[in-house]
Amino acid sequence: MPLLSVENLGVEFQTPDGTVNAVNGLSFTVDQGETLAIVGESGSGKSQTAFATMGLLARNGRATGKVHFDGQELLALPERDLNRIRGDAVSMIFQDPMTSLNPYLKVGPQMIEVLQLHKGVGKRAARDEAVRMLDAVRIPDAKARLNQYPHEFSGGMRQRIMIAMSLLCRPKLLIADEPTTALDVTVQAQIMKLLAEIRQEFGTAMILITHDLGIVADSCDRTLVMYGGRVMEEGPTDALFAKPSHPYTVGLMKAVPRLDVDQDDLQTIPGEPPDMSRLPKGCPFSPRCAHVRDICRGTMPPLEPHGPLLRACHAPPAEVEKEITA
Ligand SMILES: Nc1ncnc2c1ncn2[C@@H]1O[C@H](COP(=O)(O)OP(=O)(O)OP(=O)(O)O)[C@@H](O)[C@H]1O
Ligand SMILES: [Mg+2]
Repeated sequence: MPLLSVENLGVEFQTPDGTVNAVNGLSFTVDQGETLAIVGESGSGKSQTAFATMGLLARNGRATGKVHFDGQELLALPERDLNRIRGDAVSMIFQDPMTSLNPYLKVGPQMIEVLQLHKGVGKRAARDEAVRMLDAVRIPDAKARLNQYPHEFSGGMRQRIMIAMSLLCRPKLLIADEPTTALDVTVQAQIMKLLAEIRQEFGTAMILITHDLGIVADSCDRTLVMYGGRVMEEGPTDALFAKPSHPYTVGLMKAVPRLDVDQDDLQTIPGEPPDMSRLPKGCPFSPRCAHVRDICRGTMPPLEPHGPLLRACHAPPAEVEKEITA
């Protein structure tokens, strides 16, 4: 049994301009200890997928479908039970550390409070555990730094503290939404390395959400490529990178900076991401797709196996695959 199993997830928002269909019939699983990357351009529904899973949608949002986590159906749970799971078993880290750190409280007391609240441990034990977690995320001189405020740390350090916070209750699943976008490239690499070490040490399963295919390659077991709130292609990260067979994945890959390719050759995908309140009837990518045919405009292709991958595309795989080997 997978740790997390999302089935036919839908997320819609009611707005004055009509209904926004942010996620449309999305299904995926995450196994115990596994790392899944969810990749796609801005607005493709990545964060709302995570928020719906955690029961954190905005007030005008509604989720449909099923979210099974560790034997429980999350979408059906009352708020109280969900709050418990949220702190305990699933935990989320955000792009901006200040969304989860209180600027007016010293780091130590914030961490101790989380442990007291969720684990009911005494103050001394909580303090020891807080120090241990700061050590685990490689904050030097952890004990002394418990007495500092968040603003006394650098951006990269704050991100580490947030990761430490999110690990305090030893979650089975960690959802990291763009955890490194605000950081410079060197710090970005350090944080990714840290997350990998933490997975090793604590056996935590992880969903890594990013628009940057570049950081996925050596850090995630499986990759799911999303567009218009749907799965375009998914599979083992190695296989997907070796031979992408969906035009959207190919487009994303061509947009990843590479050391061996001149920056001027970097291509962006022509056209604009879709308006999620007016999605086309067929494949959402069809208006931008170089391999488009008539059927694409009227009928969404089903997700079908192609070797180790699953792809949703009407174009023959071979036609798309030869694009990236060029
Ligand atoms: N409260 C809301 N009301 C209406 N529309 C919303 C709301 N929240 C999100 N959306 C819309 O849902 C769609 C998906 O948003 P989401 O945040 O999941 O994108 P994303 O893939 O995480 O993008 P990014 O890479 O920019 O973070 C977007 O079109 C967004 O405008
Ligand atoms: Mg997002």
